[in-house]
Amino acid sequence: MPILFQPENQLFKLDTKTSTYAFMVHEQNYLVHLYYGPKIPDTQLKHLMYRGWYDSLSPRPRGMEDRRFSLDSIPQEYSGTSNGDFRISALEVRGQAGDTVTDLRYVGHRVFSGKPGLAMEGVTMPATFAGEGEAQTLEVETVDAVTGVKAFLLYTVFENYGAMARSVRLENAGSAPVSLERAYSLCLELPTMDYDMVHMYGRWAKENTVVRHPLQHGIQAIQSKRGMTGPNHNPFVALAREGTGEENGQAIGVNLVYSGNFSMEIEVDTLGCPRLLAGINPASFCWRLEPGQSFTTPEAVMVFSENGLGAMSRDFHRLYMDHLMTSRWAKQKRPILINDWEAAVFDFDDQLLVEFAQEAKKLGVEMLVMDDGWFGARNDDSHGLGDWRVNEDKLKGGLQSLIHRVNAAGLKFGIWYEPEMVNPDSDLYRAHPDWIIQAKGRVNSLSRNQCVLDMTREEVRDNIFQQMADVVGSHNIEYIKWDCNRNISEAGNLQLPPERQGEFFHRYVLGVYDLMGRVTQAFPHILLENCSSGGARFDAGMLYYSPQIWTSDCTDPIERLTIQFGASLCYPASSMGAHVSASSRAGFQTKGAVALMGSHGFELDPRKLTQEEKEAARAQVQEYHKYYDLTHYGDLYRLTDPAVHPFFCDWAFVSPDKNQVLFTRVVMRKPENYFQYRRLAGLDPEKFYVDQETGDRYSGALLMNVGIDLSQPWPGPEDGSSVTKYFVAE
Ligand code: GLA
Repeated sequence: MPILFQPENQLFKLDTKTSTYAFMVHEQNYLVHLYYGPKIPDTQLKHLMYRGWYDSLSPRPRGMEDRRFSLDSIPQEYSGTSNGDFRISALEVRGQAGDTVTDLRYVGHRVFSGKPGLAMEGVTMPATFAGEGEAQTLEVETVDAVTGVKAFLLYTVFENYGAMARSVRLENAGSAPVSLERAYSLCLELPTMDYDMVHMYGRWAKENTVVRHPLQHGIQAIQSKRGMTGPNHNPFVALAREGTGEENGQAIGVNLVYSGNFSMEIEVDTLGCPRLLAGINPASFCWRLEPGQSFTTPEAVMVFSENGLGAMSRDFHRLYMDHLMTSRWAKQKRPILINDWEAAVFDFDDQLLVEFAQEAKKLGVEMLVMDDGWFGARNDDSHGLGDWRVNEDKLKGGLQSLIHRVNAAGLKFGIWYEPEMVNPDSDLYRAHPDWIIQAKGRVNSLSRNQCVLDMTREEVRDNIFQQMADVVGSHNIEYIKWDCNRNISEAGNLQLPPERQGEFFHRYVLGVYDLMGRVTQAFPHILLENCSSGGARFDAGMLYYSPQIWTSDCTDPIERLTIQFGASLCYPASSMGAHVSASSRAGFQTKGAVALMGSHGFELDPRKLTQEEKEAARAQVQEYHKYYDLTHYGDLYRLTDPAVHPFFCDWAFVSPDKNQVLFTRVVMRKPENYFQYRRLAGLDPEKFYVDQETGDRYSGALLMNVGIDLSQPWPGPEDGSSVTKYFVAE
């Protein structure tokens, strides 16, 4: 069993295929962290808590004689506040007396099969799921004696994925109200600072730039205060040991299953010991708990890898596909789509869309997605958001007739929504100006001419749900693109009392989850694709509802390489919406090869393609089908990093049985010489693989140790060209 409690050592040991995680109950019921790393057989681990001898400046709990025990240095399982531990704290509770001393002690625990769902005030929160026998869960009960607040620490072990999911349920079991000033999902202690922090930063149209730097003494953090995830930082951090590469070395990945204000911070203390916290950003957060009330933190997922960042990513990918995505489309073949946005923007009518459908059909495309501009008075981005009724001036005969004609052309039909938003110039806003997020007495800033609807309010969610259900429920709509094109400023809530304003941001996220849950449950046949000005809400919270997320508004295939490589650090390739567009850099073949790294689609005017491009597009659709299982359910190997290599970007998908390999090279710049080999990874060394184009036969061992010959005669490969090779084992 992956979870062991050993009473003689008061030790908890949680094992996955790759790792051991251990902590113990020490004297006075302190919960002390001991170990997280490669799998070990030991059960005598108590000595790992001590980090020197302390007296002045470092407090010691009364009755604790051992000078090695000061909370100033002891690794904590879930750290409190002002109890002698001066590092960043996971939990801070303000009690009735007004102080924030928070001091948790162990009470008891239970272990059970499967995994409980997470919920807050009746809203199901996105989280990994597991049935009986698929995972094991440990719940540890702790209490702060003075406030009576209980913290239940939850650990679910996904043994075969090298993963653990963690969250905390806080209950006010005291007799007076308390305020949660901070309530992180996860606290992780490590004994040495010889790690690099790896994370993704970005901006609109340039998401997921991976950065890697050694941990420093002091606090380093990535955060969002935007109300949503944002493109600036993704809620993912990996700690990679010095020397860890794609396929070698130790790495710990931590990802939050959350779509709002987050904080992932690491403090390296004077001793050189890092503490990592992941959870809701304490900035602008404060949650009041009346006696008897409880608060559940979002979930954080940890993966431990001994075989580099690549193996870590592949475990995240598989875990998320098997145990996070709730959509039936996670495992069901998705139609290849064409989206009209880049080709038409707001300037389209029913006739144009039908022509798109007819032309796209000839390429083999299976679904037309009508993007922004189909509703209300929406002819540019300053009108109409909130009025989800079809604009019949544009779409003559209405939606019924349009969908009928698109279906008659042989395509399914998908539609765009931005449910959380409203333009001041809309009927919805005119009828309910109080429904937008606003701080009392302040003038709202606009972003893209729009305001954010207050999703904490039930009547707002009901209205939007009803508007969506009226359209989706009465038409043959098979896909929704759920967009979100601004972040939250002047945050306030007209309904919450002043002492509860700190709850607003999290309540907003819960409101969004509630609405998304309602929509996906009412229309389970819908393929939902999330989007936020591209990939500004590309997170695990969204993956719970939508198996596919629009990765970026940048569709330039060369730029896309770093964007998609970055996203794949944590998120499955199949979840990355990737379209071939009319962008000018690189040829049509390369655009297709890059789109095939994710969920391939088109975003162009199919009428304007040259004959040659049409043939290439037709071939790409066939490849989409041919390689679907490989690209959607296979293992991704990032072989040559486009952010580091001067010329190439290489990757490969390997089928789980290691019988098929799809290798792709994109030439970003002409290399300096013609002689080029590239080693593959993840093959079976004993198997023989046949190049399906040339018939050449190589062992997996040879392909992994020497590689494939990619040399080309003078003048060598062109900038922006690409090579794809498909191998099948004999
Ligand atoms: C955002 C999306 C685009 C498109 C537009 C429509 O920018 O990322 O794909 O849907 O909105 O307004």
